[in-house]
Amino acid sequence: MKMNNLSLLFLTHLTLFFICVCSQNIAQTQFVYKWSETYCNKDTPVGCKQIPPLKFTLNGFWGTDSNGNIQQGCRDPEIRDWNKVFDTTMVNKLSLFWPSLTKQDSKDMWKEAWNTYGTCTMERFKTPTQYFNRASRLDSEIGDLLQSHLINSNGIVPCDSATYNNVEILNSFKQVSNNKDVSFTCKDINATHAYLNQVTFCYTNDAKNFVDCPTSVTNKRCRVQNIIVPRPSPPKVRAFFNTTKKKIFCDNRFFFRKSI
Ligand SMILES: *[C@@H]1O[C@H](CO)[C@@H](O)[C@H](O)[C@H]1NC(C)=O
Repeated sequence: MKMNNLSLLFLTHLTLFFICVCSQNIAQTQFVYKWSETYCNKDTPVGCKQIPPLKFTLNGFWGTDSNGNIQQGCRDPEIRDWNKVFDTTMVNKLSLFWPSLTKQDSKDMWKEAWNTYGTCTMERFKTPTQYFNRASRLDSEIGDLLQSHLINSNGIVPCDSATYNNVEILNSFKQVSNNKDVSFTCKDINATHAYLNQVTFCYTNDAKNFVDCPTSVTNKRCRVQNIIVPRPSPPKVRAFFNTTKKKIFCDNRFFFRKSI
């Protein structure tokens, strides 16, 4: 009898708890990359443990409500066996696009991502494994595209002496997002110049299809007219940028910019 009462009490609490946990209403999900060099050396320098890679790495994956507010700080109803979540396969997958660039251990960083943001997406991703697999899936869909359109195709050449305007940067990103509206942010240098910092891709709440990012997010775009995508490790020869010929000399070689 006593046991039954206890169980009932326990059940009631458990139910209430789940109602709290599951009441998060995710309208969209956002997949945010950062330009590693800006993160490491141009924004408040964070002290990266190595020369940043010449690529975007993941900054975060989270859900937003209908007003575009990031959902965070939900409680995880379960104790996780992290050794099981981060098995070799998962670690290899995540390390490719979501490495810790600082001294923080990557696994600790991913755990933090789950505890801060992942737990608020549990109506869609019931376990850390589902959440991280979805992140990995998204990167496999757009990570290479992002890299090839922006960095490897002479589209946007990362170079401290080359500048791009908002439209050029936006159009490059929209080639990746199926022409859906994306948001990107900058780290200002002065009134006219800024470093590209992050780009946000917005998805349906199951993180399967692109949608336009909400205006509350797109309004945060770079305001300046000259955007620099800084290049990791300083070029050995002084770089210059020839606007008329659309020729950029950076890192000891020439890049030819196709018009975007
Ligand atoms: C702003 O920063 C850019 C890049 O560092 C520089 O070339 C430009 O001269 C600066 N402009 C002013 C007004 O300081």
